[in-house]
Amino acid sequence: MRNKASYYRIIGFALLGFLALSYLGKTETQNAFEAIPWLWAFYAAIVLFHIVAEVCVAALQGVLFQTLSLEKQETYLQNEALRNENRFKWLKEKYEQALGSKEMEEEHEIILDHNYDGIQELDNKLPPWWVYGFYATIIFAVVYMVRFHVLNDYTQDEEYEVAVAQAKIELDAWRKTAKDLVDVNSVIVLTDAADLKAGMALYTSNCIACHAADGGGGIGPNLTDEHWILGGGIKNVFNTISEGGRDGKGMIPWKKDLKPAEMAQVASYVLTFQGTIPADGKEQEGDIWLNPDAPATTATDNTAVKKIATN
Ligand code: HEC
Repeated sequence: MRNKASYYRIIGFALLGFLALSYLGKTETQNAFEAIPWLWAFYAAIVLFHIVAEVCVAALQGVLFQTLSLEKQETYLQNEALRNENRFKWLKEKYEQALGSKEMEEEHEIILDHNYDGIQELDNKLPPWWVYGFYATIIFAVVYMVRFHVLNDYTQDEEYEVAVAQAKIELDAWRKTAKDLVDVNSVIVLTDAADLKAGMALYTSNCIACHAADGGGGIGPNLTDEHWILGGGIKNVFNTISEGGRDGKGMIPWKKDLKPAEMAQVASYVLTFQGTIPADGKEQEGDIWLNPDAPATTATDNTAVKKIATN
């Protein structure tokens, strides 16, 4: 006696359960099923239980049906058929009414009085889904106009700013968890004291032989002035450390020895030398480097770095 209805029930129940669980258990950043790993097992158990219950009920019905006399089986089947027919009857009727379509015999009532080579037209009502959809768009338009053009709620620009600010927060959070995924495109100046301390340690053990402890230079160029051979700013400095300098100059690519996160730390530390005055600084080499990005960012970047430099 298994029927379609029980399949629908199982699917509907499983879907509802899924939505309810994910809604109730969700955290700010994570889906419930991510946050609570055993939820999957719990969910599977409930769905399985439901399937078992459906199967049991169906089996019981089957057994009981067999115990009926033939006559009663017949009436039972008839009743079932009637019940199936009447299911959703009210809804179906309402829909038919709203549709207002006419039986073939009554079509003469709505026929329009033109006739093209025997082709005629019926003045049918528009389908209700269409009509109500149309009303909905009218209501939407009125609400929209009042909200955004009369009351001047938020603009697209503001919406964009909010989205960008939110993305920045998420990006920063991501950078904290995925430090070793930084590359030359995503690297930013690190300002955390812990990062700069780690950068200083890396610099002391790997770089002072050629660049001096205060960045004044030696075999390698002076890192404290605004002049750069290979370009200043976090991206260029990160790139130089990662890929090395020009052939034969002595600056090797460090990407084999240092992790991306470490290169970001030591690059950020190198930038703290900017504007300091080393004891025995080498003369300037290369060109003054200006940040091609918006000048505003240069100012903030530099002030951030300088602040640390003076600390
Ligand atoms: C063996 C010596 C040597 C060591 C060790 C060394 N460098 Fe260099 N570095 C150089 C030389 C030489 C250059 C110039 C490269 C060129 O002219 O192409 C340079 C260039 C640079 C530049 C670019 C400077 C500019 O003006 O563009 C940076 C930044 C830099 N080094 C950082 C580091 C860091 C950080 C370390 C440690 C992880 C390090 N270097 C270790 C020799 C060294």
